[in-house]
Amino acid sequence: MATTRWWKDEIVYQVYPRSFQDTNNDGIGDLQGVIRRLDYLKTLGITMIWLSPVYRSPMVDMGYDISDYQAIDPQFGTMADFDELLKETKKRGIKLIMDLVVNHTSDQHTWFKQALADHNSPYRNYYIFKKTIDGQVPNNWRSIFGGSTWTAVPNEPGTYYFHTFAPQQPDLNWENPQLRQAVYRMINWWLDKGIAGYRIDAITHLKKDLDWVSLPPDGKDGLVSVIKKGQNRPGLNKFLDELKTATFKKYNAVTIGEAYGVPAADLPQFIGPDGYFSMIFDFSYLNIDIANVDEWYRGKADWTIKDLKKTIFSAQKAIKQAGGWTANVLENHDQPRVLSKLIKNSAEQTPQAAKALAAMYYFLPGVPFIYQGQEIGMKNFQRSSIKQFNDVSSINNYQTALKAGLQPKQALKLLNDRSRDNARTPMQWDNTQFGGFSQTQPWLELGNDRQGINVAAEEQDPASVLNFYRRMGKLRQDKRYHSTFIDGQLRELTVPDEVIGYQRQSASQTITVLVNLTATVQTVSRPTGSVLLNNHTKLQLNQNQLILKPYQAVIFG
Ligand code: NOJ
Ligand code: CA
Repeated sequence: MATTRWWKDEIVYQVYPRSFQDTNNDGIGDLQGVIRRLDYLKTLGITMIWLSPVYRSPMVDMGYDISDYQAIDPQFGTMADFDELLKETKKRGIKLIMDLVVNHTSDQHTWFKQALADHNSPYRNYYIFKKTIDGQVPNNWRSIFGGSTWTAVPNEPGTYYFHTFAPQQPDLNWENPQLRQAVYRMINWWLDKGIAGYRIDAITHLKKDLDWVSLPPDGKDGLVSVIKKGQNRPGLNKFLDELKTATFKKYNAVTIGEAYGVPAADLPQFIGPDGYFSMIFDFSYLNIDIANVDEWYRGKADWTIKDLKKTIFSAQKAIKQAGGWTANVLENHDQPRVLSKLIKNSAEQTPQAAKALAAMYYFLPGVPFIYQGQEIGMKNFQRSSIKQFNDVSSINNYQTALKAGLQPKQALKLLNDRSRDNARTPMQWDNTQFGGFSQTQPWLELGNDRQGINVAAEEQDPASVLNFYRRMGKLRQDKRYHSTFIDGQLRELTVPDEVIGYQRQSASQTITVLVNLTATVQTVSRPTGSVLLNNHTKLQLNQNQLILKPYQAVIFG
């Protein structure tokens, strides 16, 4: 099968189904809700939907703990609803990709239950069990959500199972060929159904160092992050290569790897012309505000727009050198809202700034991903009690923060800034009591600010963030500029520190993107061409200069 990079043209929208649209008024978003909103999504110019997990799950990690890979969780609907969604997306020329979570399952998966019930079951070797002589945990590795990576097996003194994430998410044993074949069968079953591909979860964790040795602790808890022994470890390449050959390659499917920590030198293997994946996410600047991505209670990082700019362009350079392709993101279901994160002064977290950030990332080489609510400029929430949080990692991090000596108030402040629940508040469709998401109290409280930040209001306002996203979609798809946006070379411009400026160049065309990320006026050289997009009503040009107003973004071509 040909391996053309057909997916280079896509514009992807991530749906977090639980928080998108509830149709049966149980307070939980569902598949029928996604169907209901397909025509809305189409207006954004998107060509593909990434659906976060809808598989059967006890929802400890909101679906990233799967108990049956081939069933839809009843909270979201039925397999018939899924088939209907697939049909309805196709009708509209939209492709659908699923979330592939195969580093771990739920502890409620029948494989794990059988592994616990019977030592001699073939499923025992689907997971990682260790028995220690002294009865202590096998080593001092710390899981990503906090605490040991080892949990004691009930009724088997001295035996533990391994989990990179929460205890309810036991890791699959990729060393076992039978397990690998079972996973491939499942993947191909979905591909046969007609999905276009997958976003792939936690993929650099599949391989663990088999010496299982402890390392010097990196925290007061005496533990060391599992990342050092269970992320991007030697031997991972074999698994990824086999995975691709046994599944995606046969279908010419698109794959986007959640691949934290891939060193630049390995990028060609991951996303080069014959790489394991079509693309990986560029997360380079998503965590610019914190010292440690998983253990954010350790505090904030100091950063400037200049740092942001440097990070964006050096990541792009590495991707280009690898001959690869990237997925550009401002937000996802694990991140705070970008407006709250990248605009430090809360008074400046305006629709104007949301549009500037949008223009900044959308036209970079790569496929733009839009996370639900980003297109209307949703912001972080403020919660006053830990009880108002749902996310397992937020709650664990909060507890760890208290143990590390933080005052509850401080810990709550960090949580409000960084919790994954920020992105998971229900979609704001309108300004009614439950935001048009549901007619009942949603599973997670709505955000605090819906006034003006909702689809219904933004539909009416030509200058809204929503309508700006629509204009960006049209511009990227416009035949006159399309090939330059897709394949044009990237050239960074010499501009003031707080302006992001770049060009996309093809043999016959130059498109210039200029974004002022400050509340002060900035001056840059006047670009050639005419204005293709402007997030202000006016444009101040003189003979040689362009004056950028606060948070003004302009595109010339
Ligand atoms: C990354 C997913 O995006 C996140 O939501 C999840 O908690 C972990 N992987 C574990 O599956
Ligand atoms: Ca529902």
